[in-house]
Amino acid sequence: MSAPIKERVILDVQSISITLGGNHILHDLDLRIVDRQRPGQVTGQVSALLGPSGVGKTRLLRIIAGLDSPNAGNVKGIDGKPLAAGDVGVVFQNYPLLRHRTVVGNLESAGHMNGLSSAEAKSKAEMLLDRFGLSARGKLYPAQLSGGQRQRAAIAQQLMKQKTILLLDEPFSGLDPAALGDVIRLLVEVAHMDELNTLVIITHDIRAALIASDTLYLLGRAPDAAGKPTGPAKVRRIVDLVAMGLAWDETAEHRPEFTALERDIKDDFRHL
Ligand SMILES: Nc1ncnc2c1ncn2[C@@H]1O[C@H](COP(=O)(O)OP(=O)(O)OP(=O)(O)O)[C@@H](O)[C@H]1O
Ligand SMILES: [Mg+2]
Repeated sequence: MSAPIKERVILDVQSISITLGGNHILHDLDLRIVDRQRPGQVTGQVSALLGPSGVGKTRLLRIIAGLDSPNAGNVKGIDGKPLAAGDVGVVFQNYPLLRHRTVVGNLESAGHMNGLSSAEAKSKAEMLLDRFGLSARGKLYPAQLSGGQRQRAAIAQQLMKQKTILLLDEPFSGLDPAALGDVIRLLVEVAHMDELNTLVIITHDIRAALIASDTLYLLGRAPDAAGKPTGPAKVRRIVDLVAMGLAWDETAEHRPEFTALERDIKDDFRHL
C-alpha cells in the first residue's frame, strides 16, 4: 500500500477576527487551501468564496492580501511560511487600471514590474488581450472601455504578474454569457499552469463558482437566539467538489447532482 500523499498547505487563514467602526465583522475565521492533486496532471487550485452582501468577503480578501491588518489571527502562505508583501495578486471590485496608460500599456507595465523583458511583456500582453477578446481595444484608455471590458482588462493585467496566489473580487460581474464562459475557462487554464497556482474567487454567481472551482467556502454570520444571522461571520460550509466528482470536468454542469447542489447552496443563503 502506498503512503497517503501529505497535503501541502498553500494558504492558511487562521482565527481571523476584525472589528470595523464598532461592528464585529469576522470572528475566529479559519480557511485553509491545500494543494489538490491529480496523479499525472498539473493541477492548480480554484476556490470560490460565497456569502451574502456585506458579510465580509472583500475585507477578508484585503486581509489575505496584506492590505488590512486583522485584530486577531494570522495568514500563512506555502508550507506555513509567512506571506510576504507582493506574494499575492489581487483583482479588485473596482478595476485598478492606471487611467493615464492604454490597456496594452497597463499590461506591459505589469509585466515589466514582474521582471519580463519588453519583448516578453509585449507578446504576453498580446496573447492575453486576444484570449480576453480585447485585441481591438489595446490602444484605448481604461475610461474608454465598457465595465465588462475593464473587468477583463484588469484580470489580464493581474495575469501578467504570475503570482502563485491570485485573489479576485467579483471577476464575473458585468460579463455577458459568452465572456463569462471565456473568463472561467481562462482562469481555470491559468490555475492549472502550475501545481501551486491558487485562485480565490469572490462571487455572487453560484453557478460560475461551481463550474470554475474545486472547493467552495460559504461565509455566513452567526445566528442569534432566534436563529437570525446577525453576528460576526466565519466559514459556515465547505463544499469539496473534488470529493463530489464535480471538479475538473467541463461537462459536470449538465449533471443532475450539479443542479441539486446549486439549489442547495442557494437555499443556504436564506440562513447566512
Ligand atoms: N469602516 C467601516 N466601519 C464600519 N463598518 C464597516 C467599515 N468598512 C466596512 N464595514 C462593514 O464591513 C462589512 C463587510 O464589508 P465587505 O465589503 O467585506 O462585504 P462583502 O461581503 O464584500 O459584500 P459585497 O458582496 O456587497 O461586496 C459590511 O457590513 C460593511 O458595512
Ligand atoms: Mg465585496
